[in-house]
Amino acid sequence: MQGLGHRPKTLPCKFFYDKRGSQLFDRICELEEYYPTRTEMSIMRRFSGEMATLLGKECLLVEYGSGSSLKTRILLDAMVQPAGYVPIDISEEHLKLSAQRLAQAYPHIEVLPVCADYTQSFALPRSQKQPRGRCVYFPGSTIGNFEKEEALGFLRRIAQVCGEDGSLLIGVDLKKDPAVLSRAYNDSAGVTAEFNLNILRHINSELDADFDLAKWEHVALYNQRRGRIEMYLESAVEQRAHIADCIVRFERGETIHTENSHKYTPEEFADLAAAAGFERLKIWMDEKKYFSVQYFQMRLAS
Ligand code: TRP
Repeated sequence: MQGLGHRPKTLPCKFFYDKRGSQLFDRICELEEYYPTRTEMSIMRRFSGEMATLLGKECLLVEYGSGSSLKTRILLDAMVQPAGYVPIDISEEHLKLSAQRLAQAYPHIEVLPVCADYTQSFALPRSQKQPRGRCVYFPGSTIGNFEKEEALGFLRRIAQVCGEDGSLLIGVDLKKDPAVLSRAYNDSAGVTAEFNLNILRHINSELDADFDLAKWEHVALYNQRRGRIEMYLESAVEQRAHIADCIVRFERGETIHTENSHKYTPEEFADLAAAAGFERLKIWMDEKKYFSVQYFQMRLAS
């Protein structure tokens, strides 16, 4: 809990995703205001054929996070004789379940789950079929939740994993009218607020803390200069909370920074990926240009 000693105070975003947090996030994805999931799905449906052509025959598909099997299925349906599918997830339980379901639905595709933190290094399993290429699939614009420098380091590690003939297919949320962005993170049903507050509930149970959820408010603001949505919890009153053996004081109006969601222009993201050694071959977008799915290949050293 070092972040609570920082100024301003922060909390690690991994505390969002306990069981309840995952359920709340699923509900966020269905909200009218939350355009990213729906828009990415429509891009996948519309362009999966083109994506599969670029991936080529007998490609090994490596997915970072195995949550959104819906998007993956669209891709697997379009791919020509994939060499295998490698879902990577930190949650063993979640990984097993989604791997099982996929193996059932795609008996002709070898499913090779890897339980790992994909921000750290891990070894790729060998598939029975020799792959002709490898593609890392990273949907959901989770890349936006990394700080810019972290995102670069992360893309560099992806480059190492997919190797010389490797490629990257990634979902990236785009810069747009701040009002649209603000609505997406301040939905009228208050689900995003509940999701943000759930981080405190999770910490209460996990770390023997006593945050009073009624005394905290969800705040999401678009920071134009930094091109990102910033998520905070704001203390409605002056208060204290116990966390294990510590006491933390909060002023009224003081905030805890819980998450960022960076938005990119197509050019900005191409530049970021280029710094990690990737060349963009294709970008697909919806008509309003709200969201993008981008395809990169490793730039061959000349
Ligand atoms: N990857 C999601 C995003 O940046 C995560 C997210 C959506 C989120 N709504 C949130 C994170 C609210 C924290 C709070 O769009």
